[in-house]
Amino acid sequence: MLLMMIMTAMIWNMAKAEEHFVGGGRQGWNPSNNLTKWSLNEHFHVNDWLFFGYDKLYFNVLEVNKTSYENCIDTGFIKNITRGGGRDVFLLTEAKTYYFISGGGFCQRGVKVAIDVNEHVAPAPQPTPHKGSNASNI
Ligand SMILES: *[C@@H]1O[C@H](CO)[C@@H](O)[C@H](O)[C@H]1NC(C)=O
Ligand SMILES: *[C@@H]1O[C@H](CO)[C@@H](O)[C@H](O)[C@H]1NC(C)=O
Ligand SMILES: *[C@@H]1O[C@H](CO)[C@@H](O)[C@H](O)[C@H]1NC(C)=O
Ligand SMILES: *[C@@H]1O[C@H](CO)[C@@H](O)[C@H](O)[C@H]1NC(C)=O
Repeated sequence: MLLMMIMTAMIWNMAKAEEHFVGGGRQGWNPSNNLTKWSLNEHFHVNDWLFFGYDKLYFNVLEVNKTSYENCIDTGFIKNITRGGGRDVFLLTEAKTYYFISGGGFCQRGVKVAIDVNEHVAPAPQPTPHKGSNASNI
């Protein structure tokens, strides 16, 4: 019975791994999107996927360090995510901040994003409301 529960919990956890369409759509990796705003409204967890969809003629996807992200340096990158089809995926394996930019001068125009990844934790139990308090009763 306990084993069943653990397995169910594991499957449920795995099913929770999300795919995030960077910029909010299948062609979201472009300068007309505020990618900072997008990432601040998303919740990223370990084992989630990122999907970068874009026009392969213009953009690419490079994982860089924080300094290169802030200064749009597209040389000496950590990893070239670009495969060539304008549809790239990336698995978030660690609870840390990942940085991605596009080369070709598009980072300066806003094609860059920081992804703040959290551990996969069970949701905390709701705090029980303090009984007897009545804010409107002053
Ligand atoms: C993008 O959104 C962020 C967070 O809301 C904001 O601070 C920033 O000024 C925006 N950038 C542009 C270019 O609108
Ligand atoms: C970040 O990467 C750039 C480009 O490779 C390199 O010059 C710089 O030293 C790196 N910074 C850190 C903090 O690793
Ligand atoms: C990244 O890899 C792709 C596919 O192998 C290649 O076409 C592209 O030139 C590479 N980009 C950089 C900046 O190295
Ligand atoms: C809270 O205070 C309001 C106004 O004094 C009162 O009408 C209400 O019944 C109170 N609720 C509780 C739960 O004490």
